[in-house]
Amino acid sequence: MLKHLLAILFCSTLSFGADTFITAPYLQLGASTNDATKLSLMWHTPDTPDAGAKFEVRVKPAGGTKWVPAESVDHRRIAVREIEPHLVYTAELKGLKPGLEFDYEVLRAGEVVFASRGLARKTAAQSYKFVVFGDSGQNNAPQKAVAKQVNLLMPDFVQVTGDIVYSRGRISEYREKHFPIYNSEAVPLLRRRPMIGVVGNHDTATSDLTKYPDALAYYYYWTQPLNGPDVEAAGQPRRFEGDAADIQAVRDGAGDSLKRMGSFSFDYGNAHWVALDMNAYLDWSAPKLREWLERDLKAAQSATWRFVTMHQPAFNSSKAHFKEQHPRWVADLMEKYHVDLVFAGHVHNYQRTYPLTFKVAADAPKLGLVPGEFQFDREFDGVSKTKAKSPIYIVTGAGGAGLYDPAQGDEQGSWQSYTTKFVSNVNSFSWIEVTGKKLDFKQLDATGREVDRFTLTK
Ligand SMILES: [Fe+2]
Repeated sequence: MLKHLLAILFCSTLSFGADTFITAPYLQLGASTNDATKLSLMWHTPDTPDAGAKFEVRVKPAGGTKWVPAESVDHRRIAVREIEPHLVYTAELKGLKPGLEFDYEVLRAGEVVFASRGLARKTAAQSYKFVVFGDSGQNNAPQKAVAKQVNLLMPDFVQVTGDIVYSRGRISEYREKHFPIYNSEAVPLLRRRPMIGVVGNHDTATSDLTKYPDALAYYYYWTQPLNGPDVEAAGQPRRFEGDAADIQAVRDGAGDSLKRMGSFSFDYGNAHWVALDMNAYLDWSAPKLREWLERDLKAAQSATWRFVTMHQPAFNSSKAHFKEQHPRWVADLMEKYHVDLVFAGHVHNYQRTYPLTFKVAADAPKLGLVPGEFQFDREFDGVSKTKAKSPIYIVTGAGGAGLYDPAQGDEQGSWQSYTTKFVSNVNSFSWIEVTGKKLDFKQLDATGREVDRFTLTK
């Protein structure tokens, strides 16, 4: 036991002391949409002459003795202008015991170079707890304070609702504003729990590869299910500006992720999750994208809970970003298929709506202000009346970036009719605990102080 603890300590030190890693190993949801015995592990290394030294990964149940080798260890070479070419490794872990902790080791040329403990995904029968926040990657004190608090609580997984790194989703920005904040020895969150990433405008909307050849790093550094709509086949391919070599370098590095990974779905515990790329370069009023979303949600009606995440909020009371209402085009599907919570960020504060339904007006534009007809469930109070008739929309974009409209939380007269809670003077994150048909939601600030709470039941 002591030997093992020393090994973990030693390896953890090694990961930052040696040249092995540019980015130390971090857990990822992986490609599987629902297999609780699997997760992925990623890390980045320099592309040095000895880069071919073989990596292996093995796992065992926490406290157990029998190591299980990873199903596969693969890598891609990222070679974009302005960044030294480097290798991005992905190991597919298998044989995990659902819901239980496991130990893992990364070996290079037979030597252990990293070790940590993780937590396997949970099945429908198990309780789970997770954190959601967005708009985080600034490398500032609020981001670090939120990271520290989340690490203290150690949820089963974290979902980030976009704007993962400011301000252009560059490789250089991930190295300064993401990995060091959430995957350090003091805050070892990413090596212990999977973080799930949803794209914001600052992550993937940069298309000028002449100026920012290392943008779009989201597509290199996350391993998530590739079950989203093929945006090229849907007639909405991403377009980039730059010379052919820069564009090809991105395509080579990103592979299939580029056309699929912005939107995806998966199951965790007794919930079905859908992540949507809500950036304005996609038109979610278009039938082909809506068909994918409708099919996905329709197939998930047997799940106890349904959660949807998108960066831009459909219903926002802040003065900031108020005129970006295009996410309202999918609100009808949220209510039709009984989505319970819709998480967004983009707006750097916390907001909660009444349970609501929304019908887009006949002449509404695709972008900008999207008028329509609301219905509110005002009976729901989240305390004694906990069964909501329609989806609740959450803005949880206070994960680190400068707060928006900090005074507005206290100016209730300035809130839109759909908003029932608005906290804009502190950085915060959503903390959700689900046990069967009961969901406890808390919004906590960076010191762990509660700024909102409600309970949902089925
Ligand atoms: Fe944003």
